[in-house]
Amino acid sequence: MSKIRKIIIKNEEDTRAFGLELAGRLKPGDVVALIGDLGTGKTTLTKSIAEGLGITGVITSPTFTIVQEYEEGRIPLYHFDVYRISDPEEMYELGYEEYFFGQGVCVVEWADLIMELIPENSIVIRIGYGENEEERIYEITEDRNNEYTGD
Ligand SMILES: Nc1ncnc2c1ncn2[C@@H]1O[C@H](COP(=O)(O)OP(=O)(O)OP(=O)(O)O)[C@@H](O)[C@H]1O
Ligand SMILES: [Mg+2]
Repeated sequence: MSKIRKIIIKNEEDTRAFGLELAGRLKPGDVVALIGDLGTGKTTLTKSIAEGLGITGVITSPTFTIVQEYEEGRIPLYHFDVYRISDPEEMYELGYEEYFFGQGVCVVEWADLIMELIPENSIVIRIGYGENEEERIYEITEDRNNEYTGD
């Protein structure tokens, strides 16, 4: 059984703290699937994950390419934004398996559009808007290999 952890992010500083903490415990081969509407902060969170991995270059929204690669951190980061994918077939064309099952960390914005391709042991973060302008609700399913959390 996978457990869903729900946390309230109060502002962008909380998003950054969350991203830095997550980055600190990511391992090669991890996939972080981000699900949330426009402007919920998927790219903002990805920037903090990148920072936490020690990537110093600017992280931009991969608008015209589906994946952007950053090799200078503790672990390579592959940042996907699949918003413009019209057919999961396009993921095969770019050889997504090399990334998802490789030795880097993948962060996937709009993962819900390709959910059938997202590995089962991914960290799934659903982001919703909160009550205040900068508030976000994170629902995190982290059901990774051998990390049995009890009944
Ligand atoms: N708690 C928060 N966490 C992240 N971003 C926040 C927060 N509060 C406000 N924001 C603002 O919300 C916006 C989030 O934009 P961002 O590009 O990260 O969203 P996105 O989910 O990647 O959008 P898209 O679906 O277009 O890719 C930014 O302008 C950011 O300043
Ligand atoms: Mg984005």
